[in-house]
Amino acid sequence: MCGITGYIGYREAYPIIINGLKRLEYRGYDSAGVMLYDGKEIQLSKTKGKVSDLEEITNKEPERKKGNIGIGHTRWATHGVPNNVNSHPHISKSGNLVIVHNGIIENYDTLRKELISRGYTFKSDTDSEVLINLIEEVKTQENCKLGQAVQLALNNVIGAYSITVFDKTKPNELVVARLGSPIAIGVGENNKEFFIASDASPFIEYTKDAIYLEDEELAIIKIDKGIKVRKIKDDSMVDTHIQKLKLSLDQIEKGGYDHFMLKEIHEQPKAIIDTYRGRMLPNEGIIRMSGIDNHINKFLNAERIIIVACGTSWHAGLVGEYLIEDKARIPVEVEYASEFRYRNPIITSKDVVIAISQSGETADTLAAIKLAKSKGAFVFGICNVVGSSIARETHAGAYTHAGPEIGVASTKAFTTQITVLALISLKLASKKGEISKSELRTFMQEMQLIPKKIESLLKVDNKVKEIAAVYKEATNCLYLGRGFNFPVALEGALKLKEISYIHAEGYPAAEMKHGPIALIDENMPIFVIATRKGHYEKVVSNIQEIKSRSGKIIAIVTEGDTQVKEIADHVIEIPETVEALTPLLTTIPFQLLSYHIAVMLDKNVDQPRNLAKSVTVE
Ligand code: F6R
Repeated sequence: MCGITGYIGYREAYPIIINGLKRLEYRGYDSAGVMLYDGKEIQLSKTKGKVSDLEEITNKEPERKKGNIGIGHTRWATHGVPNNVNSHPHISKSGNLVIVHNGIIENYDTLRKELISRGYTFKSDTDSEVLINLIEEVKTQENCKLGQAVQLALNNVIGAYSITVFDKTKPNELVVARLGSPIAIGVGENNKEFFIASDASPFIEYTKDAIYLEDEELAIIKIDKGIKVRKIKDDSMVDTHIQKLKLSLDQIEKGGYDHFMLKEIHEQPKAIIDTYRGRMLPNEGIIRMSGIDNHINKFLNAERIIIVACGTSWHAGLVGEYLIEDKARIPVEVEYASEFRYRNPIITSKDVVIAISQSGETADTLAAIKLAKSKGAFVFGICNVVGSSIARETHAGAYTHAGPEIGVASTKAFTTQITVLALISLKLASKKGEISKSELRTFMQEMQLIPKKIESLLKVDNKVKEIAAVYKEATNCLYLGRGFNFPVALEGALKLKEISYIHAEGYPAAEMKHGPIALIDENMPIFVIATRKGHYEKVVSNIQEIKSRSGKIIAIVTEGDTQVKEIADHVIEIPETVEALTPLLTTIPFQLLSYHIAVMLDKNVDQPRNLAKSVTVE
């Protein structure tokens, strides 16, 4: 959470930092700030609100925008409410050192008390202001350079961070460090300029060369002299490795859509093709996944597979459980990473753990991986962000290749994660002899039809809009599904909650009568997945139960359905496919529905309140 940007070089730093912050707002957007150094003075501008609010302030005083060196921050509050004072950057007692920080310093209270006893005072409630003063105290006591002071201070810190620090007394350098929160450094031509950011999107138009710091690394960046990276713990030098970025500008722009979420919903056909491209060879009856092929015995000898994830990725994991158990006949458990990591689970070297994460940075999922590894389990990652912490921490893995997902509500991440899980289930099924070549071929051919089917399904947009208009004032909604579509019900409810702020619950349809049925009255919209393949008759009975209690029924049915049409208030048709792949289709109308309701309610679709795209704190 929180986004960091920085620049040091020959250009005006302000536009680079501000535009960079806008691209990083998905990480947090409750306050924003920027520090520029114009060669004489530090200009600090910060405010509660979004980067656009910050711009309003700086536009009134253009001198605040001057300088070739600067750092910026967009915040998701942890310590201290979102207000102007708690906004970053934070400045040290002497007024010389300035920091932007992403993460949490867990022992900040002890450090703060120690610093207070040495005469420091604090303006904000943040752990970050404690850290910059700790750096200042170390620098003063040790009479050392900034890089060394940062290093010594970080050795006294417990927690997670990515930071960038500026020192007015040495204005030609920036010090960057990371532990548990990502940070990338863009390297300009001939070491004449450097860009710092939580991900590479802020500097993609300036350079394709980037260095991703690893955990416990610290970089000292000096104009003309370049970057020196060392280990924070033992001071050893690190050989830096410059990566060529594949990210392009159009991937991180809205491309004519009103919102990133809508763009990403529409990108799903392509994203799914990109996910299975090169991995499915239907004619040969082969699924190729090097991460599995190289460790096939781990999977084949696994006593069980444990899937760990959070939020939408956890919902995809549930679909994965149904897929892997159904196709490959390996027992699967799906765990919330946040529970798994703290509940002393039984894990052995006979377990395979699959960690799913779009961002690859989710703190709880990362901690669950570390725990599983420490118990000897083999850990396989399914991530979207290439080179992310989870991708690096796992023994092997498969990328989803969905492209950047910027809307805070996950859409294409979900469907591409399910695509990878379907491939894994088929791969394991074929290796175990649980599926014949011809069945495998048929399944792959069905998979290849999914993108076109989603394209045609996206045309129901107007109908979904009409339904959204009818139910946009609802205060409570129920989402029901069975089998493979139970997780889709959970996901549908989550999408509505997070961007419309309407309370919604997802349930397995048959569970309704064990409690939620009490909620049903004539005001309650109930979204039911009633596709032909998948306990159809049972779901129809559940729909009848709703009808007899006057609930409003909005059903997702298979094209040509007649039975549900007669009972439901509204139906949305989806194309026919094999049951195991229906989640890839049934989820689309729910995504569109929550999108349209949020737009109609004038909510901030891409940046819903209180949320952030990557949850790097626990
Ligand atoms: C919901 C959503 C979150 C994420 C969750 C896990 O739309 O985006 O629930 O799915 O925070 O994030 P990743 O997949 O990045 O680990």
